[in-house]
Amino acid sequence: MNIKTIMVIGAGQMGNGIAQVAAQAGYTVYMNDIAQEIVDKGVETISGSLDRLVKKEKITAADKESILGRITPVTTYDEAANCDLAVEAVVEKMEIKAKIFGELDRIAPPHAILASNTSSLPITGIAACTKRPEKVIGMHFMNPVPVMKLVEVINGLATDPDVTKTVREAAESMGKVPVECRDVPGFVSNRVLMVMLNEALWELYEGVATAEGIDQIMKLGMNHPMGPLALADLIGLDTVLSILEVLQDGYGDPKYRPCPLLKSYVSAGWLGRKTGRGIYLYS
Ligand code: CAA
Ligand code: NAD
Repeated sequence: MNIKTIMVIGAGQMGNGIAQVAAQAGYTVYMNDIAQEIVDKGVETISGSLDRLVKKEKITAADKESILGRITPVTTYDEAANCDLAVEAVVEKMEIKAKIFGELDRIAPPHAILASNTSSLPITGIAACTKRPEKVIGMHFMNPVPVMKLVEVINGLATDPDVTKTVREAAESMGKVPVECRDVPGFVSNRVLMVMLNEALWELYEGVATAEGIDQIMKLGMNHPMGPLALADLIGLDTVLSILEVLQDGYGDPKYRPCPLLKSYVSAGWLGRKTGRGIYLYS
């Protein structure tokens, strides 16, 4: 299938990153969110990210303008009528994603593929909110999207192999490496990663070391590019909590129980970098 137009639902940190790499690959992109100021902020972030590439002479200033010119910020789902592929990247809540997939299914043309960037929610369940489960798939980009090479491709029970092939090709065209897995809670990536992040939060909660100490030990001792607590702040503590809840619910295993400290931070609205405060302070 020939993908030309991509709609990205959600202009937050993942959505604007996906819109950027899609536009860089030459696709026509609609980037949707619930309010004009949010999509405008998304475009601003993309502009800043492209500025880094201009500064490093990886693209020219004219390239930047044409990439931005391929992205149309929108606040309705109407433009789904023109898309060949939609990639949903809104908050990690099943009820919100279910509603959006119902809408996209109603508006998008029959050939369109509906993908979710969910970190952990069941693709088969999301697909069941549509009348085209064979065209629903997980397209899991990593954060920060412009930098990270992986796209985890998650096949739901009904996903058509041709849809998987098309999505793999689309990911490759964006300079990414697609790797497939089955539809299990947390997939491969977050089933492993979240246990580590949660354990680091338990260590902090128990006073085993300071936040800086825990992060330094994992950075210097394991050669991780950033410590687990800094990474949790980068991902967003609300997202980390939602993923752990999906894992705990999905496997029924207490090893996934979210640390109470994580729950407190989320209820305080200290969600990490995106709110200026999480485990660390960002000014
Ligand atoms: N946009 C564009 N480019 C960016 C960027 C951004 N937001 N952030 C960093 N970069 C680029 C920089 O320009 C730089 O590029 P060059 O090498 O070409 O110069 C490169 O990335 C490295 O950046 P920095 O030197 O500024 O900083 P760093 O070396 O500390 O790297 C990092 C920053 C890439 C975030 C690195 O710390 C890292 O890889 N951290 C781990 C990230 C990770 O684990 N991501 C997965 C999260 S889990 C997930 O995504 C799944 C989920 O469902 C939750
Ligand atoms: P975010 O909080 O930065 O952005 C979420 C965006 O969704 C917000 O801008 C919000 O306004 C928007 N939104 C909420 N309801 C909406 C609706 N009905 N229609 C359109 N937009 C709506 O979150 P994020 O980090 O970008 O995460 C988005 C998705 O990507 C989640 O499913 C998350 O699990 C997944 N994900 C996150 C990461 C990460 O590291 N943060 C990595 C991979 C995947």
